[in-house]
Amino acid sequence: MKITVVGAGAVGATCADNIARKELATELVLLDIKEGFAEGKAQDMMQTAALLGFDTRISGSTNDYSKTANSDVVVITSGLPRKPGMTREELIGTNAGIVKGVCENILKHSPNTIIIVISNPMDTMTYLALQSTGLPKNRIIGMGGTLDSARFKYQLSTTLNCSPSDLNALVVGGHGDTTMIPLIKHATWNSIPVTKFLDEAQQQTIINDTMVGGATLTKLLGTSAWYAPGAAGAALVESIVRDEKKLFTCCVSLEGEYGQSDICLGVPVVIGKNGWEKIVAMDLSADEQAAFNKSADAVRNMNDVLKTL
Ligand code: 2OP
Repeated sequence: MKITVVGAGAVGATCADNIARKELATELVLLDIKEGFAEGKAQDMMQTAALLGFDTRISGSTNDYSKTANSDVVVITSGLPRKPGMTREELIGTNAGIVKGVCENILKHSPNTIIIVISNPMDTMTYLALQSTGLPKNRIIGMGGTLDSARFKYQLSTTLNCSPSDLNALVVGGHGDTTMIPLIKHATWNSIPVTKFLDEAQQQTIINDTMVGGATLTKLLGTSAWYAPGAAGAALVESIVRDEKKLFTCCVSLEGEYGQSDICLGVPVVIGKNGWEKIVAMDLSADEQAAFNKSADAVRNMNDVLKTL
């Protein structure tokens, strides 16, 4: 199993580190445009192998895509991260060009790969990856909802004072501060609806804090977060390489599902060896479906910007 992570910044390096620790690959390539950067990070990570006990071989490459040849999975993290006060959407001009170039290079050397997109604005970058690679739709996966659902569980767990891993909770829709939809009425604490324990005000606070989860961290850190985004990327890689068939919210191409077409948006999917293998239907209330449609409109407007670049 060979995996490539493009972009050796904080998110890419954290994702690679998680992949190595979990021994998801025999070979892991870290690629970056900055001279020597990926090589340095790869060597540093390899020097943890004797301490952590993994056998994955990690190598770095300065923009030489031939080193990524025949990757089974490629994670794209390239592009600018957001700065405090910036929305993910403001990154489109710069990041679209970068992600398109990365996709073209990846495809030349790994024509059968599965691509996981982390770069922002993630929904539009996933749509761009689908269009520019022409890969079957099941091989293009946007990571956003996986991260947002983990942040939702974190917010729920702090209020409920419970273990985040005892929670089932999904965020659907776009990966934007105003486009994501934490589905609190569907969330459970080991099958017990969380709404049983939370009044309306508490529910609204949890929803709001989840939606600005990334922005809150960007303000605190001065740049966008990396531990949870990197771990979310690695969790998807794990479900693919171990064919776990785990259910995550991911940004995938919709062709009528959830009432939307010609768009990539976050919905529950099963992730296995073929990429996203199935979209799982949920019964959304009228309000939830309306929020989903509004989210789709916002993401579609963003996708339209691609035509002007
Ligand atoms: C975040 O929300 C990187 O978009 C990512 O932190």
